[in-house]
Amino acid sequence: MQNSYEIIDLKPRLSDFKKDVINGLLSENKWISPKFFYDRTGSELFEEITKLDEYYPTRAELEILKDKASEIGEVIGKDVSLTEFGSGNGKKSVLLAKCLTNPREVILVDISMDALKDALKRFGMECPNIPAKAVCADYTAIDVMSSIKMAGRKAIVFLGSTIGNMEPADQRSFIAGCRKILSDGETFTIGADLKKNPEVIERAYNDSKGITAMFNLNLIARINLEFGTNIPPDAFRHYAFYNSNEGRVEMHLISTRDQSYNVGGITIRFREGESIHTENSYKFSISELKAMLREAGFSETSVWKDSRDLYALITAVA
Ligand SMILES: C[S@@+](CC[C@H](N)C(=O)[O-])C[C@H]1O[C@@H](n2cnc3c(N)ncnc32)[C@H](O)[C@@H]1O
Repeated sequence: MQNSYEIIDLKPRLSDFKKDVINGLLSENKWISPKFFYDRTGSELFEEITKLDEYYPTRAELEILKDKASEIGEVIGKDVSLTEFGSGNGKKSVLLAKCLTNPREVILVDISMDALKDALKRFGMECPNIPAKAVCADYTAIDVMSSIKMAGRKAIVFLGSTIGNMEPADQRSFIAGCRKILSDGETFTIGADLKKNPEVIERAYNDSKGITAMFNLNLIARINLEFGTNIPPDAFRHYAFYNSNEGRVEMHLISTRDQSYNVGGITIRFREGESIHTENSYKFSISELKAMLREAGFSETSVWKDSRDLYALITAVA
């Protein structure tokens, strides 16, 4: 028997795509926010990336969630309302919900309504007895997030190393925002990719099947779709590398020639070799993660790593 399911649309300001893209392309160092990767095609491509041999983060995080389920469940505690920010396909919420004792409800929060609908469907099939709701919202708008009603003791989770897609100042304010939502004794669980041999990291973002390249280039397809431009598929190429000074992988789209396009009534010029910076994915040490959590007002932390020490899951208590 399925329990209650509800979708709440807090109407994240998706229409900013056009404004944000034009602003980014008019900047001296061109950029597009990674949040625009996740339209229907982008979400499907990300799902494919997570299955690639070279892309270890998802596999490592799933290994931790499966192997350490009972320990994680014990630290998070019983009777909680579990909220995942950026829940994607919901697979990890399902695993977490299964390791909890008597969860009151699960709240999936994502900016993509398509992803939420798929995730709710998955949840309904795999955890039919746990009430679930989906909230379509931008989790960086913490004021909006704090308006979401969570029953019982709260447990917030932020997985998929999505924290690494934020800039360091935003990472800190996001974690502090989560702390504000929580009362003393409630938990925040974060999954993060660890610093390691750069070759392993670079292989993960330059897979041999070219799926990550398609994911990155999908931004050009999205620009074509939303602005009615006609940028050919070979106008840009995917480039990803580990910037060890910054401790992050950078993804770029590199212009393959001198070219210009009319984007929303504005002519945007690209020089050959010029980049559009599309994503940073920061990597962390355990001590950096613990320091961030401490600074935000969390005390005890429990740390779990996968068998190859590639990835960590940390639960911190508010
Ligand atoms: C890297 S995926 C991780 C998905 C899932 N947590 C996992 O670990 O497999 C990031 C997810 O966050 C969502 N997302 C990205 N930016 C967001 C934002 N500002 N507000 C809400 N969701 C966002 C995307 O739609 C996507 O589903």
